[in-house]
Amino acid sequence: MSRFERKILFAIGLTVFLTLGGSIFFAQGALREVYQVGVNERFGQELVHGVEARRDLLIALRDGSEQVADAIGWAVEAELIETASPRAMEALLVDLLARYPGVRGIRVAEGDRLYANAAREPDPNGEPMRATVRNREITARGRNLRVEVEVVVSEMYFQRLQEAGEVADVYSRLQRESASVSDVYVWVFGVLVFLVVVVAFLIGAIASRRVTHRVTVLAEASRRVGAGDLTVTLPTGATDEVTELTQAFNDMVRDLRDSRTRIEYLQRISAWQDFARRLAHEIKNPLTPIQLAVQEMDETYTGDDAGYREKLEHARAIIEEEVATLRRLVGEFSAFARLPRADLSPADLCELIRSIQDSVPAILEDIGEDGPALVDVQVSCATKPMHVRMDLMMLRRGVDNILRNAIQAVYAAKPTGGGHVLLRAYSLEKSAFIEVRDNGPGIAREDWERVFDPYYTTKDEGTGLGLAIVKKVVLEHGGEVSLDRAPEGGARFRMELPLMSSS
Ligand SMILES: Nc1ncnc2c1ncn2[C@@H]1O[C@H](COP(=O)(O)OP(=O)(O)OP(=O)(O)O)[C@@H](O)[C@H]1O
Ligand SMILES: [Mg+2]
Repeated sequence: MSRFERKILFAIGLTVFLTLGGSIFFAQGALREVYQVGVNERFGQELVHGVEARRDLLIALRDGSEQVADAIGWAVEAELIETASPRAMEALLVDLLARYPGVRGIRVAEGDRLYANAAREPDPNGEPMRATVRNREITARGRNLRVEVEVVVSEMYFQRLQEAGEVADVYSRLQRESASVSDVYVWVFGVLVFLVVVVAFLIGAIASRRVTHRVTVLAEASRRVGAGDLTVTLPTGATDEVTELTQAFNDMVRDLRDSRTRIEYLQRISAWQDFARRLAHEIKNPLTPIQLAVQEMDETYTGDDAGYREKLEHARAIIEEEVATLRRLVGEFSAFARLPRADLSPADLCELIRSIQDSVPAILEDIGEDGPALVDVQVSCATKPMHVRMDLMMLRRGVDNILRNAIQAVYAAKPTGGGHVLLRAYSLEKSAFIEVRDNGPGIAREDWERVFDPYYTTKDEGTGLGLAIVKKVVLEHGGEVSLDRAPEGGARFRMELPLMSSS
């Protein structure tokens, strides 16, 4: 586990612990307080008193119904003594029903026989009632009558009593268990906190592992770059800040790599320039004495050996020709050695292309009399202006070198004509391009790097300096030169130069 991961996990743990731990503490206090206010002795007693009061009410209702039954019994007895007529008795019963609302019906029986009867009409919307029958025995005028009084009490009173009893029960249980109940809450809450901490740790570990892994990879890559390895590139996956960082890192390494190759190439070129200067110097000095010596040998011979004279003249011709070639080489070497640094100033690329176009006939003449007839050169430039910071003379020389190579290549490969060379300039995004391509033999893939090295040539009269100069010039312009196969089958050289931001 990395330090970063440990820090993140610690922060998550601390946050969860402080917030949930704090809330347990307060919740526990609050619970205790709630219990103290809600679950106490007096409150419980009040509840018990409530239950007792309801029971007393029911008892009072029962007593009341006994008295009503007594009163009805006496009234029936008085009626019996007075009239002994069942009709009159029934009228009395109706009367009594009207007087006692708690009575639903009165039945007077003699043995098994009904004597008189009155009942209230049942009320379909009435509340549920509980009925009890109270019996009274009456003896008068030698008869035995039984009065059955049906008394009703609202079911609600019984229900209320039962409910109050249950509440009081629950309450007294709560009261007994109050201490342990609040402990249980704290326990449950504690377990919950523990689970939340575990889950938070897991999520934190997974999330931070993903980030730290990538940061570690970046750190490791940075160390490698620091140690000089510029081949490092990191995969970029998702889209987040770390990806942006990785992308920026890749760009930085690529830029470093580019500028290192650039610097290395320029250093190499400057070493070669040094070498060319010394070589030119060493070769140039003995050339004049060699030429003078052979001239003198030829001119001062006075003998009459015709064969020897002929050999002497032949040798003088060869030596003078080779000395001339050496002089030309020395001239090119010292020109290469003296090659100045590019001095950049803003100019339009098409201006350069036009001036090269003007020199095409001269280049064609240079390769041979039939050059203009055998090689077709097309030059074009994009219509919109392309402003580039450049050294017009040097860049012109670079393009000239590439163009000359192309013309020489197609001329050599197609001695009977049909050679085409295309030179064009165009821009794409932030770069301007100068492209030269031909339908000559092209360059083998394995030589694509080598052709830019100084002194690499496949020509008898070549110095191999042309493309080296091209590369030096382009690099000094902050650009790049590349080589691949042209669609026409020959070679395609492409210079890429940074466009000025205004164009
Ligand atoms: N368009 C081309 N088609 C085929 N080969 C080419 C082309 N351009 C360059 N080359 C190859 O690259 C080599 C190097 O070219 P470079 O211009 O550096 O030197 P050179 O042309 O041989 O000599 P110099 O430029 O002094 O005449 C050439 O000798 C040739 O083999
Ligand atoms: Mg060349």
